[in-house]
Amino acid sequence: MARYALITGASSGIGLALAEALARRGRNLILVARQRDRLESIAIELTQRFGVEVLFRACDLSEPLRLSGFLLELEEGERQIDLLVNCAGIGTFGPFLGQDWMTEQDLIEVNILALTRLCHAVGNSMALHGGGQILNVASIAAFQPGPWMSTYHASKAYVLHFSEALRIELKKCAIKVSVLCPGPTRTGFFAEWQRDEKPSDDKKLMSPEEVALYAVRALDRDRAIIIPGRRNRWIAALPRLGPRWLVRILSGMSNKAYCPR
Ligand SMILES: NC(=O)c1ccc[n+]([C@@H]2O[C@H](COP(=O)([O-])OP(=O)(O)OC[C@H]3O[C@@H](n4cnc5c(N)ncnc54)[C@H](OP(=O)(O)O)[C@@H]3O)[C@@H](O)[C@H]2O)c1
Repeated sequence: MARYALITGASSGIGLALAEALARRGRNLILVARQRDRLESIAIELTQRFGVEVLFRACDLSEPLRLSGFLLELEEGERQIDLLVNCAGIGTFGPFLGQDWMTEQDLIEVNILALTRLCHAVGNSMALHGGGQILNVASIAAFQPGPWMSTYHASKAYVLHFSEALRIELKKCAIKVSVLCPGPTRTGFFAEWQRDEKPSDDKKLMSPEEVALYAVRALDRDRAIIIPGRRNRWIAALPRLGPRWLVRILSGMSNKAYCPR
């Protein structure tokens, strides 16, 4: 049975960079995101450049029924997934009470529910086929509460804790679980709500390609928590040193710097 790496959020940013890094290593891929046209052109390009098989599936992961349909296709298909990369994610910014509820719900559906469901479905299939590897994408936001990005930080804390717990549970099934916690990265992620600072244009930020290269090398070494960049490793460690009250105040100040006017 042919083996594939399944990557969600592969139409742009870190997910796309991970797809390229894995294709470069000769991996067959199944790419998932909402934008069919983007996925199609990425699949053609990666196939031409690296000679691997690249399949794609347009799926809105905020819609549980669509995800069910995709999971059914996977179950009935002949393709074995030995690497699952849960990279699709969205963020919201600003005061919680001012947020549109449907957008908050989508965030929880994509960042938490879809990721968990994919780990369950693909994890069970991996266990049946002798093992595999899972990489969940969290963020350095996972290490502290984040006023003005409260649901985003909380969703990434879930991803971090869930992945660490799964790592222990799934070891006996020969499934290795890692969690990637990037810091601010030059992608379209901030585009909707950034102010003049434009973090996605900041040359000091890591590029998605740097994050992906670091991540695939860390996967080779089966690292549990993968934090690309020395500065980001410091930021992730700091909340453990300070009192909790100070951590949440400083985190809020940092987030507010990027809040929409
Ligand atoms: N950029 C950063 O600074 C940063 C830092 C730490 C962690 N992260 C995390 O890294 C991951 C990737 O983010 P990124 O920075 O690469 O941002 P991005 O370029 O905006 O990529 C987000 C990806 O998620 C997909 N996606 C969003 N909503 C979806 C939905 N409802 N259904 C299916 N796919 C969906 C998007 O594809 P479609 O639009 O085609 O659906 C896209 O491929 C996220 O989990 C994010 O939280 C980012």
